[in-house]
Amino acid sequence: MEISRVGVVGLGTMGSGIAQVCVQAGLEVVGREVTSELGEKARSRIDHYLSRGVEKGRLTQDEKEAALGRLCLVTDLTEVASCQLVIEAAFEDLEVKRGLFAELAAAVAPDAILATNTSALSVTEIAASTESPQRVVGMHFFNPAPVLPLVEVIRTAQTSDEVFDAAYAFAQRIGKEPVACNDTPGFIVNRILIPLLNDCVRVLDEARVAPEDVDRAMRFGANWPIGPCALIDLIGIDVHVHASEALHAALGPSLPRRGYAATRTARALAWRRCELAAGAGFCPA
Ligand SMILES: NC(=O)c1ccc[n+]([C@@H]2O[C@H](COP(=O)([O-])OP(=O)(O)OC[C@H]3O[C@@H](n4cnc5c(N)ncnc54)[C@H](O)[C@@H]3O)[C@@H](O)[C@H]2O)c1
Repeated sequence: MEISRVGVVGLGTMGSGIAQVCVQAGLEVVGREVTSELGEKARSRIDHYLSRGVEKGRLTQDEKEAALGRLCLVTDLTEVASCQLVIEAAFEDLEVKRGLFAELAAAVAPDAILATNTSALSVTEIAASTESPQRVVGMHFFNPAPVLPLVEVIRTAQTSDEVFDAAYAFAQRIGKEPVACNDTPGFIVNRILIPLLNDCVRVLDEARVAPEDVDRAMRFGANWPIGPCALIDLIGIDVHVHASEALHAALGPSLPRRGYAATRTARALAWRRCELAAGAGFCPA
């Protein structure tokens, strides 16, 4: 099946980035937001990033206009019905996503592919809200989606080979680096990174090291391009703690206890951060 029109449901941080990647790759995008004001906000964000690309010589003004012209905004979910692929990037809540998938499955053509960008929820449980779980796949983009190349393409036990292959090929077509993976908690990157970051946070207390020094240690000793505390700031402490708790809930005893203890440390630090100054992170700018 040829994918020429893509639906993106939820145009927040991730959805607007995914929509931008798709329109830049020459695809028609039907972007769905809950209100037209939020849709316009997303369009302005995409316009802003494309304009920066023009300033930096990555694309021409004409290419920018053409890309924006391929973005159509809607508020009615059923208006993605003409899309061959719908990528859901709504709020990270299982019931919200299950509700959206049940509606989407009823609206789109029988051979359309439904993808979720969930970071930590079970793709299998999301797919179970539809009568056609064989056409549901995970497509986990990373933030910022226009910049980071990886897309984890997640297969459940029900995902058909045809759907999986089409999603994988689509990620390549839009210039991404797909990696195949089964539907397991945290998939690949978060399964490895979240416990690792939590251990780094734990070292703050255990070894009485300042966040800046933990970062310097990992940059200069392990050749990390960015220190763990700065990385948590970039992700957002709240998002990181939420993801840690979801991973712990999914893995339970098989996640080393120390990982969860560190999550609590991160939470304590998040509170401290809030008390000190809203918006500040481990490493002051
Ligand atoms: N932010 C990240 O770093 C990141 C990275 C990878 C994946 N994700 C995943 O992407 C998804 C979106 O995350 P985000 O960071 O873009 O969030 P966001 O808060 O920026 O955007 C969430 C979107 O969901 C919409 N929404 C909220 N409630 C809704 C509802 N009841 N029905 C339909 N839409 C609703 C909002 O209008 C908004 O467009 C989540 O599943 C998240 O786990 C996030």
